Amino acid sequence: MLDFGSQYSQLIARRVREAGVYCELIPGTTPWEAIRARAPQALILSGGPSSVYEDGAPRCDPAALEAGVPVLGICYGMQLLAYQLGGKVAPAGKREYGPASVRVRDRARLFHDLPTELPVWMSHGDTILEAPRGFRRLAESENSTIAAMADDAGRYGIAFHPEVIHTPQGRDILRNFLYQVAGCRGTWKPAAFIDEATRAIREQVADGRVLCALSGGVDSAVCATLVHRAIPGQLTCLIVDNGLLRRDERRRVEEVMQRHLGIDLKAVDASDEFLDALQGIIDPEEKRRRIGASFIKVFEREAASLLGTDFLAQGTLYPDVIESTSHDTHNAHRIKTHHNVGGLPADLRFKLVEPLRYLFKDEVRAIGSALGLPEDMVQRQPFPGPGLAVRIIGEVTQERLETLRAADWIVVDEIKAAGLYRSLWQSFAILTPLQSVGVMGDYRTYGNVVAVRAVQSEDGMTADWARLPYEVLAKISSRIVNEVPGVNRVVYDISSKPPSTIEWE
Ligand code: XMP
Repeated sequence: MLDFGSQYSQLIARRVREAGVYCELIPGTTPWEAIRARAPQALILSGGPSSVYEDGAPRCDPAALEAGVPVLGICYGMQLLAYQLGGKVAPAGKREYGPASVRVRDRARLFHDLPTELPVWMSHGDTILEAPRGFRRLAESENSTIAAMADDAGRYGIAFHPEVIHTPQGRDILRNFLYQVAGCRGTWKPAAFIDEATRAIREQVADGRVLCALSGGVDSAVCATLVHRAIPGQLTCLIVDNGLLRRDERRRVEEVMQRHLGIDLKAVDASDEFLDALQGIIDPEEKRRRIGASFIKVFEREAASLLGTDFLAQGTLYPDVIESTSHDTHNAHRIKTHHNVGGLPADLRFKLVEPLRYLFKDEVRAIGSALGLPEDMVQRQPFPGPGLAVRIIGEVTQERLETLRAADWIVVDEIKAAGLYRSLWQSFAILTPLQSVGVMGDYRTYGNVVAVRAVQSEDGMTADWARLPYEVLAKISSRIVNEVPGVNRVVYDISSKPPSTIEWE
């Protein structure tokens, strides 16, 4: 997929993989020679914020469009296809944004087996006035603009977004392109990935030794399991307890990895070191910086004691790889320095083993299940590297950590009891720096305010606050004020991202 900067690019790639077809995202301006080296069976041109007729608008290498490889242009990608092949693109009289309906005239291939009226999601300011020579209209929108076009060389364009849920038949359209037009076979499955990754790890590591830092999250657990399976006996895992983990987290990781899978595991309790480093710090970015620095210090010390280790296994995922390689199409402003915590400096003496670097989160979960990891580990909600430190607003102290741990446990417990855990992206508690007045029995209290946050999200980039049932909220609130010493008030966070973020810091 050639990426022209749409906020939906990753989502398109995921949808393609959900259809069982491997898909990689590369900058839209990549020269054809470099694209050809990857031997693609089809090309998708993503949407993007530019207008094709503007100076400096990103274009694709014309050779890519003439190579005989099937092409699907989406929104900007369709306009680019039209423009670069000699059609006419102009600003639309009326900007089309949001739900719309298209009439399909020609159901061959792309709209195979689909109804002739399709609800779709539009988002564009330009429109195609004239399709390039050799193209025919496959569908049109209500105001008769071209909603889909194709030529006999297997080049297709659609003016709407098939990847979003507001285009209910979008998956079918993508699938038709992949299967009916491009002849893909849908062989991208967990089992195939595991075999291939196992082979690659064996080849890379040979008889070397590998170290892997476990965070308690899905990614590092799946990474370690995969490496362990490929080269049993050559992996040592390290779990650094930074004192900022949730209740019972370290024990659970130890149990699964050590007892269940038999992986050689070394646990290091460095909580005092981290807490010392955080003393008196209230600025969120400074907290992250100090936690990151402490992690590197502990890690280097421990790694030095494991002589003869040449490789470091890391659970880096594809979104991180995309973020660090597509800077020319992604100018997203860095709001928080997410990936510095638990990340290691590049000059460490290890060679990296990163078996998950082409996977999305949901694929990592599927592979974790296929590897036999327990569901409760595989389906864990994401947890930030700096842990509870960014959920304690203000200074992080042992006492405040205990308060938050107890409140957080109740939130997750009740969410699980209500059967909601898997449907939420994240659900957790925040310890605010506020004190408020309350009454318990006949006494006035002056205690902490705990906030509860539960969000739904597809990838953490945007999120909506979860409409939790009132009964669940009531139960959480009453349990927290009754069971957690020092807390006398609970509030529910009803902000979405944007403009808020998921975490409070
Ligand atoms: P925000 O708060 O930016 O969070 O909306 C988006 C997702 O990223 C997680 N997050 C982090 N993960 N280190 C991490 O490893 C961090 O410093 C960090 N900050 C936020 C957050 O939990 C959510 O899933």
